[in-house]
Amino acid sequence: MTILHIDTSINGDNSASRQLTKSLVEKLKISQWGEEVVYRDLAANPIPHLTLDQFADTSVLDEFLEADTVVIGAPMYNFGIPSQLKAWFDRIAIAGKTFQYGANGPEGLAGGRRVIIALARGGIYSEGSPAAAYEFVERYLTAAFNFIGIEPEFVVAEGLAISPELREQSIGQALGETLRLAA
Ligand SMILES: Cc1cc2nc3c(=O)[nH]c(=O)nc-3n(C[C@H](O)[C@H](O)[C@H](O)COP(=O)(O)O)c2cc1C
Repeated sequence: MTILHIDTSINGDNSASRQLTKSLVEKLKISQWGEEVVYRDLAANPIPHLTLDQFADTSVLDEFLEADTVVIGAPMYNFGIPSQLKAWFDRIAIAGKTFQYGANGPEGLAGGRRVIIALARGGIYSEGSPAAAYEFVERYLTAAFNFIGIEPEFVVAEGLAISPELREQSIGQALGETLRLAA
């Protein structure tokens, strides 16, 4: 059983999403004893933007398909996902491998694995909040993974730029949620 652990934050040790993915992976390693962890840091080692030539290189796709559980850190940058994460998704959304079009429209082919995503946002975008319509991280990642046959699970730390107290409280709550998700 393999966990693919992906970080994308440019904030190094000050990153909330990195703190959350680390917690998730540590707990999953305990609850699913014997897991092998493959680590990919897309901020330190970004994948180039897609070109036609790069479709020939299936290494990123293969690594994803070999994983039973995928843990992804996704900070909100300018209302959406980091471009590094988009470049990664562009390598795994491959017709005939992770999705196909059938008589009834698109069909996801990558089901049967768990994807857990740790979201970190400076402001507050949760349902019912005034800025909810500007949230394109959880919405995009839900649509993208649904398209390939996966229902992603989320742990959210938000309001991180509002005050140090709210940051501490929000990260603390999200760390608690990682325990539940990884149990
Ligand atoms: C380039 C950049 C763009 C950002 N854009 C937004 C934004 O649109 N909305 C928001 O609420 N926070 C925004 N933030 C704040 C981050 O979402 C917040 O700092 C979050 O904690 C980042 O995740 P991390 O702690 O894992 O690095 C931005 C931060 C950076 C560095």
